Amino acid sequence: MTSATLEIHLTDEDLTAALREDARRGLTATPKSLPPKWFYDARGSELFEQITELPEYYPTRTEWALLERVVGEIARTAQAEVLVELGAGSAAKTRLLLSALNAEGPLKTYVPQDVSTTALRAAADQVASEFPGLAVHGVVSDFTDTLDNLPRGGRRMIAFLGGTIGNLIPRERAEFLAGIHDVLEPGEQLLIGAGLVIDPAVLVPAYDDAAGVTAQFNRNVLRVLNNRLNADFDPEKFAHIALWDAEREWIEMRLEATEAMTVTVRDLDLTVEFAAGEQMRTEISAKFRRAGFEKELDTAGFATEQVWTDPDQRFALFLAERRY
Ligand code: AVJ
Repeated sequence: MTSATLEIHLTDEDLTAALREDARRGLTATPKSLPPKWFYDARGSELFEQITELPEYYPTRTEWALLERVVGEIARTAQAEVLVELGAGSAAKTRLLLSALNAEGPLKTYVPQDVSTTALRAAADQVASEFPGLAVHGVVSDFTDTLDNLPRGGRRMIAFLGGTIGNLIPRERAEFLAGIHDVLEPGEQLLIGAGLVIDPAVLVPAYDDAAGVTAQFNRNVLRVLNNRLNADFDPEKFAHIALWDAEREWIEMRLEATEAMTVTVRDLDLTVEFAAGEQMRTEISAKFRRAGFEKELDTAGFATEQVWTDPDQRFALFLAERRY
């Protein structure tokens, strides 16, 4: 019934292989750490949806309101024929963008990318039925290393919303932006949503809510290791920590072992010792300053065309184009 197609560059086996590598590297390092992308199995994605509804978690609703206000302007400036959305997930925000690009310009194709085949299938079909006449080509891939699989041709805009750029450490961020630069043609555009540096008294509770949902979300990475790699973590023996690193200007989430433990990761033939009080980093969520991020864009070969922020300056949308 719908015209959505799906290209799969990342299978479940690929995901397990990537998790094995990340888990082995992170759990044998000093200090231990795990990459944040492994939060998002079905339960983790559901917990993140719950986070977006929490009174303390301002980013999602702030970005939504901002996008609602400026999406017409973005569409008129961008004149995109192809919208590529990285980390599309359920594609809720994209509807706003798609309707505006559709109404204000020559939009022909929507290319949502995500790591989850199920999420993408549903989102792509939904968009295809809501926007008849729009070609929808979903790409299942890892956004950090599969930009090469994005279709070419047509004036493209790549959108990366939600502030997920903050999950990358500065070196990864530079590589990511340079990678986007390389797949775009001169004059094509990038739209990025990024959280801004704000008062830690507002920022920290957004990552350490009173209801404890973020704590469950954080511990979920241990359940993912238990399920996918036959590990035997007891998630409830790890305490959730969220702290603001004022120097590096990022929120850091950690899990702290509440007692000494020996954990076995059966599929890796790995035994891991945790000392009582030992902390393991599970996520960074970097916050940005307008000038600093424009500089990063510039270094990657982008000229910033426009920046929009909400009235409280908590979140920004950067529209940039690849320079010649
Ligand atoms: C989905 C990466 C944007 O960093 O704010 C929410 C993830 N972590 N609460 C963020 C998250 C803890 C979120 N992003």
